[in-house]
Amino acid sequence: TDLIASGELKGKRVLIREDLNVPIKDGKVTSDARIRASLPTIQQALEAGAKVIVMSHLGRPTEGEFEEKYSMQPVADHLAGMLGRPVELVKDFKAELNVAEGELVLLENVRFNKGEKKDEDPLAQAYADLCDIFVMDAFGTAHRAQASTHGVAKFAPVACAGPLLANELEALGKALDNPARPLVAIVGGSKVSTKLEVLESLSEICDQIIVGGGIANTFLAADGKPVGKSLYEADLVSKAKALMDKVSIPVPTDVVCAKEFAESAEATLKDASEVLADDMIFDIGPDSAKALAEQLKKAKTIIWNGPVGVFEFDQFGEGTKALALAIAESDAFSIAGGGDTLAAVDKYDIADKVSYISTGGGAFLEFVEGKVLPAVAMLEARAAE
Ligand code: 3PG
Repeated sequence: TDLIASGELKGKRVLIREDLNVPIKDGKVTSDARIRASLPTIQQALEAGAKVIVMSHLGRPTEGEFEEKYSMQPVADHLAGMLGRPVELVKDFKAELNVAEGELVLLENVRFNKGEKKDEDPLAQAYADLCDIFVMDAFGTAHRAQASTHGVAKFAPVACAGPLLANELEALGKALDNPARPLVAIVGGSKVSTKLEVLESLSEICDQIIVGGGIANTFLAADGKPVGKSLYEADLVSKAKALMDKVSIPVPTDVVCAKEFAESAEATLKDASEVLADDMIFDIGPDSAKALAEQLKKAKTIIWNGPVGVFEFDQFGEGTKALALAIAESDAFSIAGGGDTLAAVDKYDIADKVSYISTGGGAFLEFVEGKVLPAVAMLEARAAE
């Protein structure tokens, strides 16, 4: 970050790792949040007169093989549109690479390269050979110890964190270490099993955890409520009980049910104790949403990961909408992260009312779990040299 600010980039070959792993449909980028978030870093390097090389992964292709559907070409096209200049896509970065000062190229998907996912040294060294300065800016991939995130940082002549990565770490640190209280977390999504570690870490630091989605169903079961045919995890009911003993986790008092999972499914509002054997719970009801919204309005710090209902179908979106609007109205320092959460932020149009929107999915969760992000650890090791 300091390097960029101090203008030491002029004429230098600067390799920037971004997380440009964005959704693509029919050759077009469908959500460019991650590209937008990376733009200031790329622009600063260009304006500083650096020879800029940007790299990222896209999806999970078979390693070592080119696959058209995972090509970065749509990202190059989209980035070119945003920057208002052509962005050349480099298919073979080991061939001669000539970038002029103040110009940029984008490397093809790093996961086409053999050794990327296993963080093999020869590949990491080959990336390092491209640059004078390596800028790790991909917060969303900082939890992966791979050649383009962790390995290259080991071998590059100079390795530092980019502004996006630095901002993410600062914002998350603010919410987690010494937060303004009450600290309330919303953990939604389908399964407790995928968020158990997050729930356990949050139970240590939060004043309250709001659960939603399939996750809430396991907590309802732990509270002795019927959940019918809803998605829930019977083997995690005792873990849910233990969490409820540790921290305030209110369970919904009313729920929106249907008999099938479909866009056209008929939604029925029920008291949480009246769910029938053939019901499936797809959202929290309005009384629960109202009570939770009140809690959110009192919060001073809010961490949001996961919707509380099947909000992609409007009839099951009211709970998520009510909480989104409560976050928007609250004066708390609020952080939202994760793909589904960001889709909800967009759908209910609260992006400019959330204090910080993280570009991380898995990385966001691992950070909240208190895990060390390997790419960040490598930068710290390099800085300590
Ligand atoms: C993400 O989308 O969470 C990151 O880009 C990491 O992708 P991965 O899970 O395929 O490593």
